[in-house]
Amino acid sequence: MPAEYLRKEIEAGVRFWGFEQDGELVGIMGVQDVGDVTLIRHAYVRPSHQGRGVGGKLLVALRAKTDRPVLMGTWAAATWAIRFYEKHGFRLVTPQEKDRLLRKYWSIPSRQIETSVVLADEGWFALGGHS
Ligand SMILES: CC(C)(COP(=O)(O)OP(=O)(O)OC[C@H]1O[C@@H](n2cnc3c(N)ncnc32)[C@H](O)[C@@H]1OP(=O)(O)O)[C@@H](O)C(=O)NCCC(=O)NCCS
Repeated sequence: MPAEYLRKEIEAGVRFWGFEQDGELVGIMGVQDVGDVTLIRHAYVRPSHQGRGVGGKLLVALRAKTDRPVLMGTWAAATWAIRFYEKHGFRLVTPQEKDRLLRKYWSIPSRQIETSVVLADEGWFALGGHS
């Protein structure tokens, strides 16, 4: 991520958390409170460390820091990421709900909305969200 984009994301309220192993940063995950929800933003684990639980630990730690429903937006084609969030109790929302949520909580172009999906945690569905 270019430094300028990172600075803008932090200014917009994204808080980044890192996972260190042997003094090396191997994973990061950002959270952003928007309205009445918390968004997971920019999850990334170094390829050499993927599939070893780092992302899972970051996700558990960040979810423990919020009482709000948690939403996550990613590419529809990112099946590995969708599986990762589903393993942690997230579920895909309906296509209609996805369009509404992306417009409400994210600022992304329409073209990107078409190719994205939204996953929501139990807290969201408990409030009446639709899957
Ligand atoms: C998605 C991501 C953050 C998960 O972190 P991680 O540390 O690899 O995940 P964990 O080890 O905690 O969890 C592993 C689970 O995630 C999924 N997964 C993670 N990486 C995967 C891969 N390369 N291929 C397939 N499934 C994968 C699987 O469901 C896996 O479960 P399994 O081991 O039982 O098959 C990480 O793989 C990543 O940074 N990927 C590239 C960037 C990305 O896609 N970010 C998310 C979209 S914003």
